[in-house]
Amino acid sequence: MPETPLSRITSLDALKAATMACRECPIGEFATQSVIGEGKLKARLMLVGEQPGDQEDLAGHPFIGPAGKLLARALAAAGIPQEQTYVSNAVKHFKYELRGKRRIHKSPSQREISACQHWLEDEIALVKPAALVALGASAARSLIGRAVPVMVNRGQWLPRPDGREVLVTLHPSALLRVDAEDREPAFEAFVADLRQAQRLFAR
Ligand code: URA
Repeated sequence: MPETPLSRITSLDALKAATMACRECPIGEFATQSVIGEGKLKARLMLVGEQPGDQEDLAGHPFIGPAGKLLARALAAAGIPQEQTYVSNAVKHFKYELRGKRRIHKSPSQREISACQHWLEDEIALVKPAALVALGASAARSLIGRAVPVMVNRGQWLPRPDGREVLVTLHPSALLRVDAEDREPAFEAFVADLRQAQRLFAR
């Protein structure tokens, strides 16, 4: 991971303003707004997804749509108090393609993830989490600085160059695409991954 140059971002408000204006990659031009993370400063756990979806782009808040609801249910099942976490994304703008009037999610490219990485590093520097969760491959790439095969590494802690550990798991939206009969075991496996982080909250 390249060393982050000294940043002038000293608050989440400044991060929001800077990402709103960011045109380091083409995504920002077409999004409604940037969406930065939300939650507790100095959270023990920071969870990082891929990018805001359609609802998040319109509302300006992360993980408020179906994937966010599933994530909230899984955190509760894993015994992780959501109010003691901070949740964000690797990429701060919604990338989509238009199909008629519908905006269909498109995965960010490696270049777009890299362009946004310094904003995520600024956010980590502000939030100062003890540990992180990478929700899916885009988040794992951004946090760890290289491609991480999620299915091989899920449920495991991998170190970041800054010494913090990153728990790797799937993106919750992957569970929304699972066939109905496999959904419950897939959810349980996701909860089992997240449970690895529960010790951070044990008294
Ligand atoms: N998916 C993400 O990765 N992040 C969000 O904020 C919403 C959906």
